[in-house]
Amino acid sequence: MLDSSSTHSPTIVYRPIRPSDLDVLEQIHIALFPVRYEREFFLDVVHGRGIISWGAIDINRPDGKNDELIGFVTTRFIPGKDSEIEDLFRYNASRSDLCLVYILTLGVVDDYRCLGVASSLVQEVIKYATSIASCRGVYLHVISYNQPAINFYKKMLFRLVRRLSHFYYIRGRHYDSYLFVYYVNGGRSPCSPLEIVTAFLMYFRGFLRMLVSKLQRTESNKNLPRWYRCKETNSLLVNQNKRIISADDSSCQHESSPAATGFVTTHQQASSEALTQIAISLKGL
Ligand SMILES: CC(C)(COP(=O)(O)OP(=O)(O)OC[C@H]1O[C@@H](n2cnc3c(N)ncnc32)[C@H](O)[C@@H]1OP(=O)(O)O)[C@@H](O)C(=O)NCCC(=O)NCCS
Repeated sequence: MLDSSSTHSPTIVYRPIRPSDLDVLEQIHIALFPVRYEREFFLDVVHGRGIISWGAIDINRPDGKNDELIGFVTTRFIPGKDSEIEDLFRYNASRSDLCLVYILTLGVVDDYRCLGVASSLVQEVIKYATSIASCRGVYLHVISYNQPAINFYKKMLFRLVRRLSHFYYIRGRHYDSYLFVYYVNGGRSPCSPLEIVTAFLMYFRGFLRMLVSKLQRTESNKNLPRWYRCKETNSLLVNQNKRIISADDSSCQHESSPAATGFVTTHQQASSEALTQIAISLKGL
């Protein structure tokens, strides 16, 4: 991070990466990442061969290196059918043009961290992906121990969708990775199979609870002494029925016990939320 006592106030500008960035780009990658990239990769980046990238520079540097990269993001298009996440976005086999943008590398040199440079670079990627009608999302992998990057993508509202076991193999050791996605152009799948099952389970749980409570009420009604039942009919039992039939009857809610009202409301909400979710899911299938 920049020294707060220094008078230098950076002026960050974003631009495409160019052939003149080759050496600095390679040096920063070596400094920041545990994996080594081939020279070919950097040549592809600076010449834009299948890779789209953005760079950040500080045009107010005290050392005068005003055009030297201080941050970068490199990306490439992945056809939907070749992506490992076609089950996660609205994939349509008849639309062979559907694609995703994959973030290959993102980095900011130490002195310029926590100034929002990476946020701006990733915003550029999202803007670009959104501008392509056939693009459904931006995705990437982060090694499981890289907490700053995990926090960063969460802050940028990427969704953590998977943990991939033993995804990386670095210096003789395996590491898991997290897969993050940012959906664009309505790319989000309406519901994953797990979400559909959960919605059904929620619905049936609510239904069972309602049955149990009905049975319990019938049983307790039966057990009441005859005089008690008659006496209470005008107050407790009728009011309870009213509450179930008409939840917005304020006089009923006022008279009813909070616990009973809570149950009816929770159950109704859970069931209707579950049904809405199922309806949305089925519509999207
Ligand atoms: C991850 C990285 C790109 C973040 O760059 P940056 O320019 O400092 O990020 P930003 O300033 O845009 O930060 C945005 C948010 O990310 C989170 N964040 C960034 N750095 C963080 C850190 N060290 N610890 C915790 N959270 C962090 C914060 O939530 C931050 O928001 P805040 O400043 O409002 O708290 C940078 O630390 C880096 O280059 N790391 C090494 C390379 C790397 O790991 N790349 C990502 C994997 S490809």
